[in-house]
Amino acid sequence: MKASTSPANDSNLIATLAAGVAHEVRNPLNSLQINLSILEQELSELLPGRENHVFAVLAKIAGEIKRLDDFVSEFLRFARAPRPNVERLAVGPLLTDLAGFITPECSQKGVRLEVELDGPESAWVDGFQLKQAVLNLVLNALQASPAGGHVVVRTSGDKRRLVVSVSDDGEGMSPETRAKAFTPFFTTREEGTGLGLALVHRIVDQHGGSVDILSAPGRGTTVTLVFPAPRGA
Ligand SMILES: Nc1ncnc2c1ncn2[C@@H]1O[C@H](COP(=O)(O)OP(=O)(O)OP(=O)(O)O)[C@@H](O)[C@H]1O
Ligand SMILES: [Mg+2]
Repeated sequence: MKASTSPANDSNLIATLAAGVAHEVRNPLNSLQINLSILEQELSELLPGRENHVFAVLAKIAGEIKRLDDFVSEFLRFARAPRPNVERLAVGPLLTDLAGFITPECSQKGVRLEVELDGPESAWVDGFQLKQAVLNLVLNALQASPAGGHVVVRTSGDKRRLVVSVSDDGEGMSPETRAKAFTPFFTTREEGTGLGLALVHRIVDQHGGSVDILSAPGRGTTVTLVFPAPRGA
């Protein structure tokens, strides 16, 4: 008999494999971290002065361990995204709640964040996933913005479809970056994992919607998400 497969089965399998890999990577990482702390403690009793280059080496190792641990967390976040649980939700509170959460980080960087609600009052979405997608876009916008920059989350659309766009007046993307932006693990940022836009794409796809990027180097970027109402809703 031929084995049958479906997107739901595939994503369960990916999530299970990812959890297994994460487990196998995380345990040794934890142990490395603990042993490194012990080593640091013992060396600090033996070697006078924190300026000894040995401590710089230890700090570098600790930094790499953290980078790997963060990578595993990001990977899990991507692999675990379940199929959306779509329901009719009020859009305004979802987005203002999200803005409240991210505003301190924007203010710290001197970037102004605004939410303009010109779209339908309610829409058929998975609230958690909508917030996750918009959060990824706002973080990208923030990372691309200089101090004094301006990020706008705007809704439009009608009863049949919610449109959410996130615009910034930051560095923009080259055509090459634009072409690869949705590819998992593609990043131009030193600290980036390259899974943010891949996750956004996946969330929108699973809602039966679409995502589009308009960007010009030095002029800024607008990413637009469309969430259609399900048939018969
Ligand atoms: N608003 C933006 N302005 C300029 N470039 C952007 C913007 N959003 C995304 N990019 C480019 O697209 C790349 C991929 O973005 P993505 O969100 O997938 O990954 P990342 O931000 O690098 O890492 P992660 O989101 O996993 O922390 C970024 O590295 C950056 O080059
Ligand atoms: Mg990102």
